[in-house]
Amino acid sequence: MKSSVSMRRCICIVGFVLAACVISSRAQLSESFYSNTCPQIFPVVQGMVDQFVAADRSIAGGFLRLQFHDCFVRGCEASVLLRSPIRAAEMDAPPNAGSLRGVDEIDRVKAALEQVCPGVVSCADIITLVTRDAVAAVGGPSWQVLFGRRDGLVSSAIEANLNLATPADPFPVLVQRFGRLGLSVQDLVVLSGAHTFGRSHCIRVMGRLYNFLGLPGLTDPTMDPTFAGTLKIMCPSNQPQGTNVVPLDSTSDTFDTAYFSDLLANRGLFGSDSTLVSNPTSLAIINEAVLQPEAFFRNFSASMVRMGSIGVLTGSAGEVRLNCGRRNQG
Ligand code: HEM
Repeated sequence: MKSSVSMRRCICIVGFVLAACVISSRAQLSESFYSNTCPQIFPVVQGMVDQFVAADRSIAGGFLRLQFHDCFVRGCEASVLLRSPIRAAEMDAPPNAGSLRGVDEIDRVKAALEQVCPGVVSCADIITLVTRDAVAAVGGPSWQVLFGRRDGLVSSAIEANLNLATPADPFPVLVQRFGRLGLSVQDLVVLSGAHTFGRSHCIRVMGRLYNFLGLPGLTDPTMDPTFAGTLKIMCPSNQPQGTNVVPLDSTSDTFDTAYFSDLLANRGLFGSDSTLVSNPTSLAIINEAVLQPEAFFRNFSASMVRMGSIGVLTGSAGEVRLNCGRRNQG
């Protein structure tokens, strides 16, 4: 009993320290960081994002997920972009391999910025600004981007596996994953609203359709049966590799609140989506988003700023990579 109390105290202290770190690192970022050294960052990024979105509107979803996966592993320091010759980097981990999008596009933006402001703009800041501009370009909200992140030196597939949420995570596990990075239940629910845009490979949902809880033939009974039937047509069991793609919500090329209405109708794609209706606090946040779409846009923006501040490297920590795919030395 005594030891479990002191364990809880210890967890609280760790959580508090992490949250304090997130807040203090945010304080070191600033909107005007590149005002003197690279004012061209805004037109260059905006122009390129407009081109990417014109060529493939869905790429906005790719960028959004890229930022999420960057920030949740070692903080927002572009470790997700580092390549490994032995395939042991974050991008090689199962949650990323074969499904991460936007990496080449970020490399191209970096190359363009190196032409105008050599060695100045970090890859971590590029991910953040490209994501903001891409979401706005497809009709989503826009938010203030703070700059001054530096790029990390380490990227590990093992850490990605440990830290990235899985589509089967239940509510308490999600709360814990977000909480240890200083993000609240409000952030969890609102940021999950990113699933209003984009797509998933069938492999992520086939367990829920054909092998729920490891029981062959069982479909998650909390899923609306008509919805499950439609997904089974798109993701047939005789294609176990699951390479087809399915939309994340009923209006997956529009940034709106249909994701939340879908959740209320038991039409969430992943277990990690559906589980958000299982808790009164998160259910209230979902209801608010459905009733007040403009509040969702505002809250999403605020949560993106918070997520974009997780574990940032500032000052002389890390480096400003010259090529987003590799460290400057070695
Ligand atoms: C809460 C835990 C979350 C889980 C378990 C989760 C899981 C997933 C999975 C499995 C996919 C499909 C990947 C594929 O097969 O292509 C996906 C897609 C996506 N996720 Fe999440 N996600 C979560 C939270 C978030 C957050 C916080 C964001 C951003 C703020 C986000 C943004 C996206 C986007 C935009 C896509 C579509 C990507 C594309 O179209 O390429 N997700 N997510």
